Amino acid sequence: MKQVAIITGCSSGIGYETSILLAKKGFKTYATMRNTDKGNKLKEVAEKENIDLKIIKLDVTDDHSIKNAINEIVQETSRIDVLVNNAGNNIAGAVEDLSIEEFKEQFETNFFGLIRVTKEVLPIMRRQRKGIIVNLSSIVGKMAIPLNSAYVSSKFAVEGFSESIRYELEDFGIKVILIEPGVIKSNFYENIKMSKNSLTDPKSPYQPITQKIFEAFLPMLQYAFPTKIVADVILEAVTSDNPEIRYAVGDDAKSINEARKKRSDKEFENWVKEGFFEKKGFLR
Ligand SMILES: NC(=O)c1ccc[n+]([C@@H]2O[C@H](COP(=O)([O-])OP(=O)(O)OC[C@H]3O[C@@H](n4cnc5c(N)ncnc54)[C@H](OP(=O)(O)O)[C@@H]3O)[C@@H](O)[C@H]2O)c1
Repeated sequence: MKQVAIITGCSSGIGYETSILLAKKGFKTYATMRNTDKGNKLKEVAEKENIDLKIIKLDVTDDHSIKNAINEIVQETSRIDVLVNNAGNNIAGAVEDLSIEEFKEQFETNFFGLIRVTKEVLPIMRRQRKGIIVNLSSIVGKMAIPLNSAYVSSKFAVEGFSESIRYELEDFGIKVILIEPGVIKSNFYENIKMSKNSLTDPKSPYQPITQKIFEAFLPMLQYAFPTKIVADVILEAVTSDNPEIRYAVGDDAKSINEARKKRSDKEFENWVKEGFFEKKGFLR
């Protein structure tokens, strides 16, 4: 019997790439997205490659949309083996410039959205006594970066949530793993929603630091790693009998992990500052 995979946020980037790869590797794949009008290219690829991939609508912030999507899958297949919680976005800016509503909006997608889909899929995996949940965190799910308190805290929350549920799901044969990419080339950076004042208002007290961070960040975008490296790691994890708890993806993410292990909290903070403010980057 074919294994069934569901992935959120497949209109672009990591979700798009992962859905094609899993389908090519024999998974019956449900590539979900909140706006299925964005699925034409994926549909064309699936037809051309003759892979078992179906696009369905799923908005992670909408309970009904999640229930409808999971019901449709279960009616067709009666099982779900792999859930990739990938949908996510970034709302950036200094904390003073970010409203509570913006923090909530960030968590609605990156954290509560992931929990909503997980809760809908868990009874199915529990009955099967088998399943793997892949949560897209980020290397900034373990290290903080400036002007990103909403995004960083949403990913720290994903890390804590994932570690906690691992204990309670183990006895039901359900695995939970974390994917922690560094800088990956996708629509992610062009979709960053900046808080109102941070970039445009020259009088903002956070304008100088914002400028510095942007200047430091642009070279990092030039080395951004392709989405394929993330999809490959997800495939490796979901086909492994004994997957790791977390996978850092990209040389930058690995270098950050190494730097973290060797340093005290304060030393590591200085290392991060050098990365941004002295433009040393994170491929060190
Ligand atoms: N790119 C990186 O450098 C990087 C690094 C670390 C972690 N990540 C994580 O990787 C994941 C995928 O990001 P990506 O790089 O592939 O970026 P992306 O190309 O912008 O893709 C993000 C996907 O999430 C979807 N999405 C956003 N809000 C949604 C919602 N409410 N319901 C359903 N789907 C929603 C987007 O759909 P729309 O097209 O409709 O907006 C899009 O399909 C995210 O969780 C991100 O935090 C990315």
